[in-house]
Amino acid sequence: MTRIKIDKWNPDIKPIEEAAKAIREGRLVAFPTETVYGLGANGLDPNAVRKIFAAKGRPSDNPLILHISNFEQAEKIAYISEIGFKIMKEFFPAPLTLVFDAKSCVPSEVRGGLTTVALRMPAHPVALALIEKSGVPIAAPSANRSGRPSPTDAQAVIDDLGDKVEFVLDAGECEIGVESTVIDVSRDEIYLLRPGGMPVEIIENFLKNRLLKIHADENKKKSSPGTRYRHYAPEIPVHLWRAGEKFSKFNFEGKIGYMGINDPGSKFYKKIIFDSVENYARGIFASLRFFERSGAGCIIAELCDEKGVGLALNDRLLRSSGCL
Ligand code: TXA
Ligand code: MG
Repeated sequence: MTRIKIDKWNPDIKPIEEAAKAIREGRLVAFPTETVYGLGANGLDPNAVRKIFAAKGRPSDNPLILHISNFEQAEKIAYISEIGFKIMKEFFPAPLTLVFDAKSCVPSEVRGGLTTVALRMPAHPVALALIEKSGVPIAAPSANRSGRPSPTDAQAVIDDLGDKVEFVLDAGECEIGVESTVIDVSRDEIYLLRPGGMPVEIIENFLKNRLLKIHADENKKKSSPGTRYRHYAPEIPVHLWRAGEKFSKFNFEGKIGYMGINDPGSKFYKKIIFDSVENYARGIFASLRFFERSGAGCIIAELCDEKGVGLALNDRLLRSSGCL
């Protein structure tokens, strides 16, 4: 594994070309996006895509997102619906993933056996340059071992997958910190499959207040297989707390880490206090990983208001605690 430091705003093109060559040749490259780091491979090469599943220990029925750098690329791999095209034009590049019907060039491995494919154009100069130079759509899940908190810096990628990737392109910390919002635009109704870095209010506002639908539980698992599995779990338990609740419901033995927006006082071994929901989202995964290493026996994490990125933040907190 080679770790290559790259300036996000003024990336040196040499190492990106080298990494792009590895992608074209079917090898794995971890790269930064505005949400989390991705574990990338040539999205049109089934053998390369299988390496992603093997490296992560990911169930093969959990489909991958194809990352693109321009609109023509989207049309080559998916049937672009009218509403999907409008949304794409308005927002891409963005922390937003759109699900369309897939064209036949998309390997079944990428689709996890479904007939649809998820597309995203990341708002990150290094990611865009890598896709552009590769000349292929890049299949990339978050670059963590399956089930672990997503990586928002290069060290977290190396801790989880260092021996499994050819290159780690290191452009520092990710700006948003939670994964993209996933919406299905392949049918008449628009479904929210995963809340994420792009607030749903912004999309609903663009759609003139048309609300995104949410699948009933059994359909949810079918249409968004990723939601079926345990996610984001650190090696120590996570308990959830809401402002106003008594801490006496928790057993205060041992060393307890706290993360949240409200400062809960002095009972804690270590505390991480954020000054906004956006900063909490940016820091959630790094904080879970920090507490894991800190010697704490468990984590108490504050749930927040489900506005803006708060919806995605609570989703990740619920999943990391095993409540979803
Ligand atoms: O921000 C992100 O989306 C990051 C960066 C690297 O782009 N990627 C990411 O990938 O979070 P991953 O594999 O960890 O999550 C992809 C999500 C999963 O919940 C998966 O089930 C869903 O997208 N997905 C992918 N293809 C789909 C499809 N065809 N239909 C429905 N859901 C799909
Ligand atoms: Mg993931």
